[in-house]
Amino acid sequence: RTAPRLEHHSLSIYENIWLVIGLLIQLVLFVGVMASLVSGTSPLTQDNTAGHNHLAGVTNGRVDPANLQATAFGKPGLYLQDDGSYQAIVVAKAFAFDPPFLRVPAGRDVTFHVTAQDVVHGYYVHGTNINVDLMPGQVASFKSSFDTPGEYNVICYEYCGIGHHNMINKIIVEP
Ligand code: CUA
Repeated sequence: RTAPRLEHHSLSIYENIWLVIGLLIQLVLFVGVMASLVSGTSPLTQDNTAGHNHLAGVTNGRVDPANLQATAFGKPGLYLQDDGSYQAIVVAKAFAFDPPFLRVPAGRDVTFHVTAQDVVHGYYVHGTNINVDLMPGQVASFKSSFDTPGEYNVICYEYCGIGHHNMINKIIVEP
Protein backbone atom coordinates (compact mmCIF):
# COMPACT_ATOMS: atom_id res chain seq x y z
CA ARG A 1 0.00 0.00 0.00
CA THR A 2 2.34 2.68 -1.18
CA ALA A 3 -0.14 4.83 -3.09
CA PRO A 4 -2.06 6.25 -0.11
CA ARG A 5 1.16 6.96 1.72
CA LEU A 6 2.57 8.86 -1.31
CA GLU A 7 -0.63 10.82 -1.57
CA HIS A 8 -0.45 11.74 2.08
CA HIS A 9 3.20 12.66 1.71
CA SER A 10 2.58 15.02 -1.21
CA LEU A 11 -0.40 16.54 0.59
CA SER A 12 1.70 17.45 3.60
CA ILE A 13 4.29 19.08 1.32
CA TYR A 14 1.57 21.34 -0.07
CA GLU A 15 0.37 22.07 3.42
CA ASN A 16 3.86 23.14 4.40
CA ILE A 17 4.21 25.33 1.32
CA TRP A 18 0.95 27.11 2.10
CA LEU A 19 1.99 27.50 5.72
CA VAL A 20 5.24 29.18 4.65
CA ILE A 21 3.43 31.38 2.11
CA GLY A 22 0.92 32.38 4.77
CA LEU A 23 3.69 33.31 7.19
CA LEU A 24 5.48 35.33 4.49
CA ILE A 25 2.29 37.25 3.67
CA GLN A 26 1.79 38.04 7.35
CA LEU A 27 5.41 39.18 7.65
CA VAL A 28 5.10 41.47 4.59
CA LEU A 29 1.84 42.94 5.90
CA PHE A 30 3.35 43.51 9.33
CA VAL A 31 6.45 45.25 7.94
CA GLY A 32 4.26 47.36 5.65
CA VAL A 33 1.99 48.47 8.46
CA MET A 34 4.93 49.30 10.71
CA ALA A 35 6.64 51.25 7.91
CA SER A 36 3.50 53.27 7.20
CA LEU A 37 3.05 54.02 10.90
CA VAL A 38 6.62 55.22 11.22
CA SER A 39 6.55 57.25 8.00
CA GLY A 40 3.21 58.75 8.97
CA THR A 41 4.70 60.42 12.01
CA SER A 42 8.41 60.96 11.49
CA PRO A 43 9.10 62.97 8.30
CA LEU A 44 7.31 66.12 9.36
CA THR A 45 5.27 68.00 11.84
CA GLN A 46 2.12 69.79 10.81
CA ASP A 47 0.65 72.97 12.18
CA ASN A 48 -2.72 74.07 10.83
CA THR A 49 -2.64 77.44 12.57
CA ALA A 50 -0.31 79.11 10.06
CA GLY A 51 -1.69 82.49 9.06
CA HIS A 52 -2.61 83.44 5.52
CA ASN A 53 -3.92 86.97 5.69
CA HIS A 54 -0.66 88.52 4.50
CA LEU A 55 -1.03 86.97 1.04
CA ALA A 56 -1.97 89.34 -1.77
CA GLY A 57 -5.59 88.94 -2.78
CA VAL A 58 -6.42 86.64 0.14
CA THR A 59 -8.93 87.77 2.76
CA ASN A 60 -9.82 85.53 5.68
CA GLY A 61 -8.55 82.51 3.82
CA ARG A 62 -10.65 83.22 0.74
CA VAL A 63 -9.62 84.15 -2.77
CA ASP A 64 -11.39 84.77 -6.07
CA PRO A 65 -10.71 81.57 -8.06
CA ALA A 66 -11.72 83.28 -11.31
CA ASN A 67 -9.00 85.89 -10.87
CA LEU A 68 -6.02 84.08 -9.35
CA GLN A 69 -3.66 86.04 -11.60
CA ALA A 70 -4.34 89.15 -9.53
CA THR A 71 -3.43 87.39 -6.28
CA ALA A 72 -0.39 85.72 -4.72
CA PHE A 73 -1.46 82.60 -6.64
CA GLY A 74 -0.63 84.35 -9.91
CA LYS A 75 3.00 83.38 -9.23
CA PRO A 76 3.04 79.84 -7.81
CA GLY A 77 6.39 78.68 -6.49
CA LEU A 78 8.67 78.36 -3.49
CA TYR A 79 9.79 81.57 -1.79
CA LEU A 80 12.59 81.95 0.77
CA GLN A 81 11.54 84.17 3.68
CA ASP A 82 13.71 86.53 5.72
CA ASP A 83 13.74 84.13 8.68
CA GLY A 84 15.10 81.25 6.55
CA SER A 85 11.79 79.46 6.26
CA TYR A 86 10.00 78.91 2.98
CA GLN A 87 6.60 79.79 1.64
CA ALA A 88 5.08 77.47 -0.95
CA ILE A 89 2.34 78.89 -3.17
CA VAL A 90 0.57 76.06 -5.02
CA VAL A 91 -2.39 76.05 -7.40
CA ALA A 92 -4.29 72.84 -8.18
CA LYS A 93 -6.22 72.69 -11.44
CA ALA A 94 -7.39 70.02 -13.83
CA PHE A 95 -5.10 68.17 -14.12
CA ALA A 96 -1.87 69.38 -12.57
CA PHE A 97 -0.31 71.14 -9.65
CA ASP A 98 1.53 74.39 -10.29
CA PRO A 99 4.48 74.44 -9.74
CA PRO A 100 5.07 70.83 -10.86
CA PHE A 101 7.58 70.23 -8.06
CA LEU A 102 8.97 71.88 -4.95
CA ARG A 103 12.60 71.55 -3.89
CA VAL A 104 13.17 72.23 -0.19
CA PRO A 105 16.04 71.62 2.25
CA ALA A 106 15.40 69.06 4.98
CA GLY A 107 14.35 70.36 8.38
CA ARG A 108 13.33 73.81 7.16
CA ASP A 109 9.87 75.16 7.95
CA VAL A 110 7.63 75.38 4.90
CA THR A 111 4.35 77.27 5.07
CA PHE A 112 2.05 76.01 2.35
CA HIS A 113 -0.74 78.03 0.82
CA VAL A 114 -2.70 75.90 -1.61
CA THR A 115 -5.89 76.56 -3.50
CA ALA A 116 -7.94 75.07 -6.33
CA GLN A 117 -8.63 77.01 -9.49
CA ASP A 118 -11.54 75.08 -10.99
CA VAL A 119 -13.02 72.14 -9.11
CA VAL A 120 -12.40 70.34 -5.82
CA HIS A 121 -8.98 68.70 -5.66
CA GLY A 122 -6.98 67.10 -2.88
CA TYR A 123 -3.43 67.63 -1.66
CA TYR A 124 -2.07 64.45 -0.15
CA VAL A 125 1.68 64.16 0.43
CA HIS A 126 2.49 60.48 0.46
CA GLY A 127 4.34 59.27 3.54
CA THR A 128 3.32 62.30 5.62
CA ASN A 129 0.24 63.50 7.49
CA ILE A 130 -0.46 66.27 4.94
CA ASN A 131 -3.92 65.50 3.56
CA VAL A 132 -5.97 68.56 2.64
CA ASP A 133 -9.16 69.27 0.69
CA LEU A 134 -8.79 72.03 -1.88
CA MET A 135 -11.93 74.02 -2.63
CA PRO A 136 -12.09 76.73 -5.30
CA GLY A 137 -12.19 80.06 -3.49
CA GLN A 138 -10.59 78.75 -0.31
CA VAL A 139 -6.93 78.81 0.66
CA ALA A 140 -5.58 75.87 2.64
CA SER A 141 -2.67 77.06 4.79
CA PHE A 142 -0.48 74.82 6.89
CA LYS A 143 3.10 74.65 8.10
CA SER A 144 5.32 71.59 7.77
CA SER A 145 8.93 70.56 7.76
CA PHE A 146 10.47 67.50 6.16
CA ASP A 147 13.16 65.85 8.25
CA THR A 148 13.93 62.94 5.91
CA PRO A 149 15.53 63.74 2.53
CA GLY A 150 13.93 62.09 -0.47
CA GLU A 151 11.14 62.48 -2.99
CA TYR A 152 7.57 62.74 -1.75
CA ASN A 153 4.73 62.24 -4.21
CA VAL A 154 1.93 64.76 -3.96
CA ILE A 155 -1.29 63.11 -5.04
CA CYS A 156 -4.74 64.51 -5.79
CA TYR A 157 -7.05 62.18 -3.88
CA GLU A 158 -10.38 63.87 -4.75
CA TYR A 159 -11.81 62.62 -8.03
CA CYS A 160 -11.70 65.67 -10.30
CA GLY A 161 -12.19 64.30 -13.80
CA ILE A 162 -10.63 62.22 -16.52
CA GLY A 163 -7.06 63.26 -15.71
CA HIS A 164 -7.40 62.73 -11.96
CA HIS A 165 -5.06 59.73 -11.84
CA ASN A 166 -2.26 61.68 -13.52
CA MET A 167 -2.49 64.53 -11.07
CA ILE A 168 0.75 63.91 -9.21
CA ASN A 169 3.72 66.08 -8.44
CA LYS A 170 6.74 65.91 -6.16
CA ILE A 171 8.27 67.54 -3.14
CA ILE A 172 12.01 66.95 -3.31
CA VAL A 173 13.63 67.20 0.12
CA GLU A 174 17.38 67.79 -0.12
CA PRO A 175 19.88 66.84 2.60
CU1 CUA B 1 -7.34 66.76 -9.06
CU2 CUA B 1 -8.15 64.53 -8.68
